[in-house]
Amino acid sequence: MLAVTSPYLWYTTRATGLVTLVLLTVVVSLGVLVANRVGGTSVGRFELAEIHRTVSVLAIVFLGIHIATTVADSYVATGPLSVVVPWTSSYRRAAVGLGAVALDLMVAVWITSVVKSRLAYGTWRFVHWLSWIAYPSALAHALLAGTDARHGVGLAVVVASLSVVAGAALWRVAARPPRAAGRTALSPLRTPADAGPPRRPSPPPGPGRSR
Ligand code: HEM
Repeated sequence: MLAVTSPYLWYTTRATGLVTLVLLTVVVSLGVLVANRVGGTSVGRFELAEIHRTVSVLAIVFLGIHIATTVADSYVATGPLSVVVPWTSSYRRAAVGLGAVALDLMVAVWITSVVKSRLAYGTWRFVHWLSWIAYPSALAHALLAGTDARHGVGLAVVVASLSVVAGAALWRVAARPPRAAGRTALSPLRTPADAGPPRRPSPPPGPGRSR
């Protein structure tokens, strides 16, 4: 097999890794805004949802470059299998494995959103909820695998990202809109008990009865 290595591949892996983490932070935060029904007259909920979708596509693009440069660089033994199957990389097994977990979950969230109209709402919502596992996996991957993420500006980016997402998660729970209260990704549908006793059909209007 052709062995290719260049410091530029490595620089690109590092830069695109940090850019992907920032984009993931923005995607999660926008997702929380949409879920908590934020939206005014200047930027409505529809626009926020569109930005959320567009930035997620951008994150996938940067993630694709991050992975391509890692695999292409023969300096590190990270083959195509280790990109998707966790714990199969001979280079930094756990760290790259966490990246693979984040990738698999992100792709699942993305694909189910593309085909959302063909899925049951509960299925889509459950898979979308896995973003809350994808993000910490990506963050741990960055801290364990990264050259820059543990010092200086790289560390500042990681800390800022964690603060924003932790704040968004707390606010998601605290400011949950009443319509969604009691509904979780695992129990998104109303049960017959929630609906109360069956309603009696209304009698047909008869003479002498006003409605
Ligand atoms: C959502 C998924 C992912 C995100 C957000 C992400 C993000 C990052 C970040 C922020 C870094 C630190 C950059 C640095 O400090 O130098 C990094 C490093 C790295 N990532 Fe990922 N990554 C993801 C998935 C993957 C996958 C699937 C692979 C497997 C090919 C991978 C391979 C690497 C490698 C080898 C490094 C170390 C680069 C170095 O030597 O500094 N990443 N990643």
